[in-house]
Amino acid sequence: MRRYDKSKALFERAKGSLAGGVSSEFRKFNQPHALFYTHAQGARIVDVDENEYLDFTLSQGPLILGHSHPEVLEKVQLASSEGQLYAAIHLREVELAERMQQIVPCAELVRFSLSGSEADHAALRVARYVTGKPKFIRFEGHYHGWFDNVAWGVGGPSLEAMGEREQPTALPWSGGLPEHSRDESILLPWNDLALVEKTLAARSHEVCAIITEPVMCNSGCIEPAPGFLQGLRDLCDRYDIALIFDEVITGFRLSLGGAQAYYGVTPDLAVFAKAMANGYPISALVGKRRWMQPVAEGKVVHAGTLNAGNPSVAAAMATLDIMARDHVHAHLHRLGTRLKHGLVAAAAAAGQQVLIQGPGPMLHMAFTDLPRANDFRDTLKFDKAKNAKFIFAMQERGVRIIGRGLWYISAAHTAADIDHAIAMSTEAFREC
Ligand SMILES: Cc1ncc(COP(=O)(O)O)c(C=O)c1O
Repeated sequence: MRRYDKSKALFERAKGSLAGGVSSEFRKFNQPHALFYTHAQGARIVDVDENEYLDFTLSQGPLILGHSHPEVLEKVQLASSEGQLYAAIHLREVELAERMQQIVPCAELVRFSLSGSEADHAALRVARYVTGKPKFIRFEGHYHGWFDNVAWGVGGPSLEAMGEREQPTALPWSGGLPEHSRDESILLPWNDLALVEKTLAARSHEVCAIITEPVMCNSGCIEPAPGFLQGLRDLCDRYDIALIFDEVITGFRLSLGGAQAYYGVTPDLAVFAKAMANGYPISALVGKRRWMQPVAEGKVVHAGTLNAGNPSVAAAMATLDIMARDHVHAHLHRLGTRLKHGLVAAAAAAGQQVLIQGPGPMLHMAFTDLPRANDFRDTLKFDKAKNAKFIFAMQERGVRIIGRGLWYISAAHTAADIDHAIAMSTEAFREC
């Protein structure tokens, strides 16, 4: 068994100053406890007890080129040496917006923020203003940040608690939410176009937006059923509703144009964050002119002192340049397919039944006999205890995976890294 003594001691110390010992809720969840890291390079990260890991968490997604990419660091250093934050416009920022216009189908106008949560918040505000309608449709198991109005219906502990499938109960994800924020959304299961259609037939007069992750990455990495995204597009056109793609994970991970280019469905508004700048804080709200014009005119306010700082903008530009130059997406898809096949074979050899879903650059593996998970409710049938054992068994063998079973691949991973992870999984499956 690996030793985690220094991490344990530091985590105890952290709890004395940081609330819960962390700066984001998700960082608590690790076995045997949250770990402290000291450095990371390429596809590898090292903890304070000097355990090295082949990293498939990539810091919850952002590190698409791998840790400490030298060219990104060089561009960041140069930009930082010229000034850190003007809180005014600068050339690189315009160049980045122009680049996004070129590569993202819906990006006729762009605004930069710091986080995905903020940009999602702005997207919903825009939709409310343009349509004059109050509510948005969201889907069970999708995550759109931690703000009040999207913190309902993120998930649920059981089918009973989640209520009727056709009229789900929107459970709060946090204490302290104002009761009225529950009523801002209409919650539906994902991937059920007929139900969205039925809901809109009765309630379209209330609905300003449909917000969706184009792939349900936050629960099971479930791809849209054939025709689902296009069906949402058609319904939004029919009822004058904003189609918002939350591309915080899919953006620049599935393809250079995001999920909208990958699946060939263009939303009205989209949000990019995580993999946009290889770990530097930046997000973008992009959209068609009709929807973004009120922002341009200041009728819908979007602001932020720290927005579009020099290092983040330089990191984003470098990341986009490198992804295009090095054909990173072909690499991610190739390695994703290799990983998927390898894990399926290793599981079968150990007598385990697993379900692997996801397009490749991100994948989810679950212990279940289901042939396919279609929505969040299906993911409740996954064997979570077995998954936890597997994740820890992999950590003990130096392979770091997101606790709920999600794997991210970066440009820094090699075929040999994938084969190593598969070899380690062969042993881990036997322990589960
Ligand atoms: C799909 C999606 N949207 C929004 C967010 C929130 O982004 P941030 O953590 O940058 O606020 C996340 C974060 O994980 C996400 O996965």
